[in-house]
Amino acid sequence: MDVQRTIIEPHGGKLINRELAGIDREEYLEKCKSLSSLTISKWIISDMEMISNGGFSPLIGFMGEKDYQSVLKYMHLANGLPWTLPVTLPVTKEEAMSINVGDEVALYSDEGELCGVIQIEEMFEYDKLEEAKLVYKTMDDNHPGVKKLFEQGDIYIAGPIFLVNRPSHKPFEEFYMSPNETRKMFNDLGWSTVVGFQTRNPVHRAHEYLQKTALETVDGLLLNPLVGETKKDDIPADIRMESYQILLKYYYPLDRVRLAIYAAAMRYAGPREAVFHALVRKNYGCTHFIVGRDHAGVGKYYGTYDAQEIFSHFYPKEIGIKPLFFEHSFYCGKCLNMASLKTCPHSADDRFILSGTKVREMLHEGITPPPEFTRPEVAEVLIKGMKQKGEG
Ligand code: ADX
Repeated sequence: MDVQRTIIEPHGGKLINRELAGIDREEYLEKCKSLSSLTISKWIISDMEMISNGGFSPLIGFMGEKDYQSVLKYMHLANGLPWTLPVTLPVTKEEAMSINVGDEVALYSDEGELCGVIQIEEMFEYDKLEEAKLVYKTMDDNHPGVKKLFEQGDIYIAGPIFLVNRPSHKPFEEFYMSPNETRKMFNDLGWSTVVGFQTRNPVHRAHEYLQKTALETVDGLLLNPLVGETKKDDIPADIRMESYQILLKYYYPLDRVRLAIYAAAMRYAGPREAVFHALVRKNYGCTHFIVGRDHAGVGKYYGTYDAQEIFSHFYPKEIGIKPLFFEHSFYCGKCLNMASLKTCPHSADDRFILSGTKVREMLHEGITPPPEFTRPEVAEVLIKGMKQKGEG
């Protein structure tokens, strides 16, 4: 009997699919030749992909003003569902002049590849300072998310989208899975409970500790690294992907973990992005989601546990997926073990703690971080990868 084990509902109750296939796609391929067109950024292309594969369910397109305002002010869509980040399509005033509400517009990458279509229902101006303040909690343009926001066009165009061509994920295409596919996979594996793990970094010992602690109580782990746009000094996704595979091979029970990419761009919106990340992983079929210290944070813009505290603003039922909160974790030389502020009685001097920036600096210089911090096999892949890219 085909037992449906993964019972968590997608956000809003239905997994969205806006990816055209077969005859519909053929029709649009032809139709797009005569539509007006816009060039969209990599970030927007990844949002198109996430909307169309259902990762951003219940969104079927880029947000209109009502949803946008409601998300900014109340962290809920206008229909009352929790949603913490705007998913919007900015254009310049000049671009806006060339299109009208009611138009279908073909969207192309800056390399001229057709991505999809938007059916424009609304065009509206917005307040960048307000968005920065509410979403990122800062108006400082040193914040990578705020910088992007300030640089982008002044008008949002909104409406349903269709994806015509899914972006390539070479060289790690084999790790692309839609939420539909991960849900089926969990079911086939017989997993009732699945913990999702978001990361934009290599998996260091502390990450591994959180994942394995969670694995003590749930059936499986979805290692779901973000491979969309990140800030320049983050470690590139292709190098990270290789390091994850090595780590899994040597240190994980392979029957209890699956690696799949998360195609979206990193917003660095800290607390709001933590909730967003959790909702998206719910769409992928995860029942649990790890939120550690300063999740999706950057610099010193957010408090260490703000990304955990924000969940108290929601009813657990409306979020659906269960966040698993973890304290700052590290290897302790006296415990001779991984531990956290909750479990280790020793002093800071006994703990192996390195900032992300420090580790990146070490890797750039070809210095292997201590094995208490990073598995040597992982460090080797990272150093080699950075050298090949000329970043070492
Ligand atoms: S990010 O996507 O959240 O920016 P990062 O790789 O830094 O990626 O973190 C992935 C997850 O691990 C997040 O939930 C983060 O809070 C958690 N995390 C990272 N390092 C630690 C640590 N030393 N102790 C506890 N949690 C951590």
